[in-house]
Amino acid sequence: MCKSFLVLCLDPVVGAIAAGNAVVIKPSEMAPASSSLVARLIAEYMDSSFIRVVEGAAAEMSALLEQKWDKIFYTGNGRVGRIILAAAAKHLTPVVLELGGKSPVIVDSGINLQVASRRIIAGKWGLNNGQTCVSPDYVITTKDYALKLVESLKKEIERFYGKSPLESKDISRIVNSNHFVRLANLLDEDKVSDKIVYGGERDKTKLRFAPTILLDVPLDSLIMNEEIFGPLLPIITVNRIEESFRVINSRAKPLAAYLFTNNKKLKKQFVKSVSAGGLALNDTALHLTVNSLPFGGVGESGMGSYHGKNSFDAFSHRKAVLYRHFLLDIPLRYPPYTRVKQRILKAGMSFGLWDKIRALLVA
Ligand SMILES: *[C@@H]1O[C@H](CO)[C@@H](O)[C@H](O)[C@H]1NC(C)=O
Repeated sequence: MCKSFLVLCLDPVVGAIAAGNAVVIKPSEMAPASSSLVARLIAEYMDSSFIRVVEGAAAEMSALLEQKWDKIFYTGNGRVGRIILAAAAKHLTPVVLELGGKSPVIVDSGINLQVASRRIIAGKWGLNNGQTCVSPDYVITTKDYALKLVESLKKEIERFYGKSPLESKDISRIVNSNHFVRLANLLDEDKVSDKIVYGGERDKTKLRFAPTILLDVPLDSLIMNEEIFGPLLPIITVNRIEESFRVINSRAKPLAAYLFTNNKKLKKQFVKSVSAGGLALNDTALHLTVNSLPFGGVGESGMGSYHGKNSFDAFSHRKAVLYRHFLLDIPLRYPPYTRVKQRILKAGMSFGLWDKIRALLVA
């Protein structure tokens, strides 16, 4: 049972129930064993009059999407996100879309390379072997720092997973053979197959794929133009680290962006100029665990956010209510709108009188 499956599937449900909603969950069909476990446990422990699980794929999903909901919350990819948003539009149903994207990691020179490498590895291969929405998708670093970074990543990967990572119990399998083939195709494209500087081993029958690093892949390659969602980590290089911002901002807005640096100015520039769902500095993926931070995408990486109080808000409507008494029934408000009334209104405005009176409206 994969932890992130449970988190993604049940975390929003907590907010929805807390805000007083009845809930229907449709777990991903990509992980059928996890899906049926969730269905069984929810049926066993929760009150089925307000929370149910519907298992299935496209047909079940279309049937669900035909219904009128108060809110639809979806975690997944932009292709399905678009189908959901279009279906929701028919009923004017508001939607939260938690999508992904190519989340970049900028690695500046002169940093604590060992710690940075470990944190990149933890975010990339440590979380489902790259199969999470906030996984570092690619790295940008300077030309003269790239080899150092590669060496350090290799060393730490071997420390964590041994010399033959395909055998490691700490590396997740690829979720199914379609995704395995998709990843293999990214790696086997002519443009990039000679850019592999580490890893590349795979075992299709066991759905195992080793941590793989590529250096200097062309920006027009497949691997640089779709979300990788797997154990491949391309590194692209720039002359000056500041150029990274241009690379990131010329592409679709990612769900996360990361920067490792000691440089205060670079840090400020990054926070100010990079548009992404969320940022983490000197780390990867951890911003997701901070309950007070809203978690959600922007642009291509989604809309709306959740986690902590934000989950409650995501499933609530903030209904405005004014309670009024019968006092202070000012005749100026009612016709006929005579000159005298208009003058008093104007005079009152210039003294800020109406704001003061408005404050007295509430019973
Ligand atoms: C990253 O960590 C270093 C060393 O602890 C620190 O000097 C630097 O300010 C941190 N960078 C950011 C962007 O917070």
